[in-house]
Amino acid sequence: MIVLAHLSDTHLDGREQRAERTRRVLDYVNTLPGPVTAVLATGDLADHGTHTEYEEVRKALISPHPLFTCPGNHDKREPYRSVLLGEQAGGGPINRVHRLDGAVFAMCDSSIPGRDDGFLDDETLAWLDDVLAATDADTPVFVCFHHPPVRLYSPYLDEIRLHGEDRLAMLIRRYPQVAAVLCGHAHTAAASTFAGRPLRVAPGVVSTLKLPWEHGDLLDYDQPPAIAFHVLDDERRLTTHYRVIPGSR
Ligand SMILES: [Fe+2]
Ligand SMILES: [Fe+2]
Repeated sequence: MIVLAHLSDTHLDGREQRAERTRRVLDYVNTLPGPVTAVLATGDLADHGTHTEYEEVRKALISPHPLFTCPGNHDKREPYRSVLLGEQAGGGPINRVHRLDGAVFAMCDSSIPGRDDGFLDDETLAWLDDVLAATDADTPVFVCFHHPPVRLYSPYLDEIRLHGEDRLAMLIRRYPQVAAVLCGHAHTAAASTFAGRPLRVAPGVVSTLKLPWEHGDLLDYDQPPAIAFHVLDDERRLTTHYRVIPGSR
């Protein structure tokens, strides 16, 4: 059985309220009695993508569990690479595969520099194809990226979702290894399907998106942060729990 703790959208920018919410989430996740297979953080880790913000992200996103990240539309590739990953700076998409015993995590870059909507470019899809082809049929692969590839029925959000998603759907349909697609960006917990697989969206750590039929401003910074727990059992059934993490704010 695989248990994943999935958080997203910390938007760290030096402000204490955001840092405290992120600390609260990580403290909760890091002190779970377990077992936890991995912790996932699906983008918008920094708010403006400055080097200083990535120093903050690097110190905040620390866990005794394996912790894997991917960029979002608020992230910037060059400082993400150099500060967060400790790699040579470069401009291409930041795609990383992590192979654990019994599960593979393909962390894809769906960001488009300078834009808020998302796209998996040809380089990223070719990379994902190679990752899936190199994974044996019995090993589940979690395909993770920032922008949900389906409408979530928030007009604001649907404008800036992943576009060109048919190309990804065609790829996923060729590989039964894909156990689920995991995203962030929405700042609201959501569950759907994509290419016949479970699609799960983590709630936002920094804020909560209000839906069109709810009261209030578009983003609510007062509701407490939340995370998702995804459980994949031996029959490849994915069950998701959502957990709110209360605190002083
Ligand atoms: Fe975000
Ligand atoms: Fe985003």
